[in-house]
Amino acid sequence: MSMMDHNLVDHGGGPPTSHAARTSVDALTGPRDIVPDKVFTLTAEPGKISLSSGGSIDGWTFNGTSPGPEIRVREGDLVEIKLYNKIPDLGVTLHWHGLDVPNAQDGVAGLTQEAVPNGGSHTYRFRAEQVGSFWYHTHQASSEAVAKGLFGSLIVEPRTRPAVEDITVLSHVWNEEISAFGTADTMQRKRIKPGTPVRIRLTNTGINPASDTTSTEFLLTGTPFRVTAIDGTPLHGPTELRDTTLELANGGRYDLSFTMPDGPVRLVDRNAPDAGLLLEPNEGGPVPTLPEDPPAFDPLSYGSPETPRFTRFDRRFKLILDDGLSFHDGVFGLLPMINGTQFPDTPTLMVRENEVIHTTLINRSHEVHPMHLHGHHALVLSRNGVPSTGSPWWTDTLDVRPGEIFEIAFVADNPGIWMDHCHNLEHARNGMVMHLAYE
Ligand code: C2O
Ligand code: CU
Repeated sequence: MSMMDHNLVDHGGGPPTSHAARTSVDALTGPRDIVPDKVFTLTAEPGKISLSSGGSIDGWTFNGTSPGPEIRVREGDLVEIKLYNKIPDLGVTLHWHGLDVPNAQDGVAGLTQEAVPNGGSHTYRFRAEQVGSFWYHTHQASSEAVAKGLFGSLIVEPRTRPAVEDITVLSHVWNEEISAFGTADTMQRKRIKPGTPVRIRLTNTGINPASDTTSTEFLLTGTPFRVTAIDGTPLHGPTELRDTTLELANGGRYDLSFTMPDGPVRLVDRNAPDAGLLLEPNEGGPVPTLPEDPPAFDPLSYGSPETPRFTRFDRRFKLILDDGLSFHDGVFGLLPMINGTQFPDTPTLMVRENEVIHTTLINRSHEVHPMHLHGHHALVLSRNGVPSTGSPWWTDTLDVRPGEIFEIAFVADNPGIWMDHCHNLEHARNGMVMHLAYE
């Protein structure tokens, strides 16, 4: 594939033969001949991951830690990240989940690059055009490799950084049983002065151990708050919530904003309420108790008033998420399927640049499928026939629960060949993967 070849060519690899060629190389791979604004090095290596409870896990790290180092850049930055792999017998890549980078930078092994073998390296370059909360993770054998620690957060700040206490929380399930915020499987305390504006960037990296049939439910108590962004995209005029559960898709992100009150604020995963984040004013105060039967946050009634109204659709796709008896990758059993097929027999969504694409997602299975489209953000038009009220929201990882039907739309504005898959990475491993490709 020519896109891949271009990506393997660095500065010295031979000049483009014409201006047109140069433009298209840059468009697909990102600029190669400009000094980057931010440079990072991430080395994948085995390591001991220490949990706050005192236990430790033999896992896989970036630069000796998991979550790996936070990549925090500014809007417009040209970012260069050099990946080295020191994990024996494992290929590694870096995928920038939610950031719509040029195709060749997307880090999908076997699709946009070859996985970096033990002893190898690969350099990624992209311009950080979208402000918001993202994360990075390896995209080769990811159901195992992400679970073992190959992930970290990726934050793109606006050009003028707001004066807020900015807290990044990566919720992760270790060893398929320990739910933690990063490595905190106990209550993690942090002092914050009352009156301070706080933003929590919450990312759900993992499989929900409680059940495949529900998404992870978080609970923020002790303060009124607003959900100010979903999947890195801001919501406008969000209403104030209190004691509300926040169901978050595997791979999805919520930004939560509030002003630090006079008493403590607590954020937990409802299924593992002993772990979590406890923000305390200097005076301390009683730890907020968890409400018994809190209502659930519903993004359907939310969104940005500035979202486009699509007046035409150039193509429509219908995707039925189901399961069936099948054999895939050494597993026989009831396996997740898309339109009755499994990868590589799943449909490829063929589009042309600038087309407006309408997609219907129908979940006929008994499990939640957090569907993640690479390289694009989709606007949620309706759920179960009920339109998003006047202000649909943008998503890159949409939880489709059993029995649900979603209509979504996106603009085909990022040429290449892209993954579209379930972010329950176990489901993806079992074949719940398809491609979006440009004609
Ligand atoms: Cu977060 Cu295809 O992945
Ligand atoms: Cu799934």
